[in-house]
Amino acid sequence: MANAVRFVSGVDLGQNLAMTPLQEKFVRLKKEREAVVLAHNYQPREIQEVADYVGDSLGLSYEAQKAKGKCILFCGVHFMAETAKIVNPEKKVLMPDLNAGCSLADSCPADKLRAYLEENPGLYVVSYVNCTAAVKAQSDVICTSGNAERIVQRVPADREILFLPDRNLGDWVIQKTGRSMRLWDGDCYVHMEFTASSIDRMRQEHPEALVVAHPECTRAVRALADEVCSTEKMVGYCRNSSVRAFIVVTEEGMLHRLRREMPDKEFLAGPTDRCACAECRYMKMNTLEKALGALENLAPEVSLSKETIEKARLPIERMLEWSRN
Ligand code: 13P
Ligand code: SF4
Repeated sequence: MANAVRFVSGVDLGQNLAMTPLQEKFVRLKKEREAVVLAHNYQPREIQEVADYVGDSLGLSYEAQKAKGKCILFCGVHFMAETAKIVNPEKKVLMPDLNAGCSLADSCPADKLRAYLEENPGLYVVSYVNCTAAVKAQSDVICTSGNAERIVQRVPADREILFLPDRNLGDWVIQKTGRSMRLWDGDCYVHMEFTASSIDRMRQEHPEALVVAHPECTRAVRALADEVCSTEKMVGYCRNSSVRAFIVVTEEGMLHRLRREMPDKEFLAGPTDRCACAECRYMKMNTLEKALGALENLAPEVSLSKETIEKARLPIERMLEWSRN
């Protein structure tokens, strides 16, 4: 059985787990192609296991920026792969499925934003990374859920902020910073499925567990959480806690990452009113078969115009710089 070196968040876990024949084939081809495989925390387990790096949007942006190799295979959604292309434009960026979009990105079309900014001049645009490259190109600075509070705090005090596209994340940042902002009216359909009543019920069934929730959840859900943070910060929070059980209120792929890194702890899927199956249909368009196909064909590839790359790079680089110091 071939062994893979597993890197999660840049850390070699030293786990030589048994791979399926398809995973073995993927790892062989990845080496032949000199590809760097980046995967978001919401990706299916079999992809996470063969990625070079698994992380949140912020970590993935840093990894994409410094990726060597001949190409990047980005296993996540389209706006994340676009970000990789923008920060490392010389590199070919492949995706398993180009149709893997995002309901949040869809809620803010570039032409609608352009019209809004024409009618409302002078706004400082802080865009959550979950938006298209064409929207990033109209932004002053980008943020992720991992650095949103910090980024907003750095915006000059005399500027009025338009925060887009997620009104829930924006509301959380207002709560944390006390800074008022105009909020775009977008949301993530996956996180909107968690309700205060479903979380409350689960808390009562598992009083021993702590609740960790993503800031894309509504204020009512966030109010019931012991910790609200990005997917990457969830890993650190659960690891550093002396508590053994956690109710994880975000997309279900996160459970694979947590269970893999902390096999001695218990992670329960946050419930919606319908089920405990909060799956992002876009993230799950990526399969290991499609990822293998992308390496075989060196396609499909993410393509952006030079002009968009140049315009979108500035606000992303500003974010990377502001969140470093
Ligand atoms: P993170 O940046 O926390 O990984 O979140 C990305 C995302 O799409 C959440 O739905
Ligand atoms: Fe977009 Fe929501 Fe899917 Fe994240 S979970 S990629 S915000 S639709």
